Amino acid sequence: MSFPKDFVWGAAAASYQVEGAAYEDGKGLSIWDTMCRQRGKVWEDNTGDIACDHYHRYKEDARLMGEIGLKAYRLSISWPRVLPEGVGKINQKGLDFYDRLINALMENGVQPWVTLFHWDYPYALYCRGGWLNQDSSDWFAEYTGVIVDKISDRVSNWMTLNEPQVFIGIGHQTGLHAPNLQLGFHDVLLAAHNALLAHGKAVQVIRARSKTKPTIGAALVGMTSMPATNSPEDIEAARGRMFSIWNKNCWNNTWFADPMVFGTYPQDGMKIFESEMPAIADGDMKTIRQPLDFYGANIYTGQTISSTGDGGTKSVKSPDGPPLTTMEWQVKPESLYWGPRFLYERYNLPIFITENGMGNCDWIHRDGKIHDPQRIDFLARYLSELKHAIDDGATVKGYFLWSIMDNFEWLFGYKQRFGIIYVDYATGERTLKDSAHWYKEVIASNGRRAL
Ligand code: GCO
Repeated sequence: MSFPKDFVWGAAAASYQVEGAAYEDGKGLSIWDTMCRQRGKVWEDNTGDIACDHYHRYKEDARLMGEIGLKAYRLSISWPRVLPEGVGKINQKGLDFYDRLINALMENGVQPWVTLFHWDYPYALYCRGGWLNQDSSDWFAEYTGVIVDKISDRVSNWMTLNEPQVFIGIGHQTGLHAPNLQLGFHDVLLAAHNALLAHGKAVQVIRARSKTKPTIGAALVGMTSMPATNSPEDIEAARGRMFSIWNKNCWNNTWFADPMVFGTYPQDGMKIFESEMPAIADGDMKTIRQPLDFYGANIYTGQTISSTGDGGTKSVKSPDGPPLTTMEWQVKPESLYWGPRFLYERYNLPIFITENGMGNCDWIHRDGKIHDPQRIDFLARYLSELKHAIDDGATVKGYFLWSIMDNFEWLFGYKQRFGIIYVDYATGERTLKDSAHWYKEVIASNGRRAL
């Protein structure tokens, strides 16, 4: 019993969270650079100025990935590093960094999986209206073209956007994330629509200009629902909840995925959002709906749902004192069973788990090692459920552990450690945690070690 042959065992990180070199080699500002300069926004006023210094240490990092045996590394590109103004003049030094990084990965047998946008939006474009500007999808298409022309001879696996639910919902509605906007809901939906158009146009650019045959998806998030029991009623209730919209925000599974895959906004959302819907031009939905090769799902936890017996659904509270990660997210391994299963049924695309992992309070123990048994147990439980989903018919082709190394966890700064490699931020020194050694065995045994 093991995972399917050719299963992609990977790990992930994102540009702003690891690179550092925020003001070097001609990089432009991103909205996270400017947000982190404002006091009180991020835990302890941490910034991504240096982060893991991956910009300078990428060779060592690629070597460590090779040592762990990673088949793939999910990285993202900093748009303002490549295009300091967001469009127009290319910063050759920034572009060359990704060239070198990709070569280093490949030299270590690690396949690059590239996310075009993981939240570090160019500040210069934000000043021009950002995602509210009707040209914003064309800006993204221009940027995509620059990247594709440069690296698609070696890169064939692409994700357009990471978690639009978050950069729109938390960036533009609740305002906690950059660019800290609290827009009216009409404008939130307009920004979301433009981000969807950006996705569609980016897919078109990749297909038109890639030098190798591309595999394209997006990395989406949304709350996974799991049935309280295996009764058909509870399963139906969980499925219903997973794919429904019941309040005015974008944190759901369908508002972005349905347009991308089906070319239509979900009916229930349209009804609730009716008076605030942005204008949708002729052809928009066609542009957004592009053939995709996979569905990328970021899944960390889930909510338990049961049927009320009269067609309704209710969420079931966990017993007191549930297992929690340091993010205070509940440990719910079955989310990696039901999430991919429901998503595969609805969207009928091969699933890649583009993120899964846990924040933990890791430190260097007296023996010089980093023992993280909770993380190993967490991962083993989740991976067993993922295997179970595959056995029950869901097509799941790969798994990216979040994260390859400790990094800048957005609002939480360096408080949260998600890595399987420990980073000493004072010195930059990296140390493999126990979980990294364990993951190496998982990969070498094609998953058997986790079951
Ligand atoms: C996210 C981001 C990651 C986070 C991770 C842990 O998807 O929220 O992709 O950047 O660091 O999810 O919270």
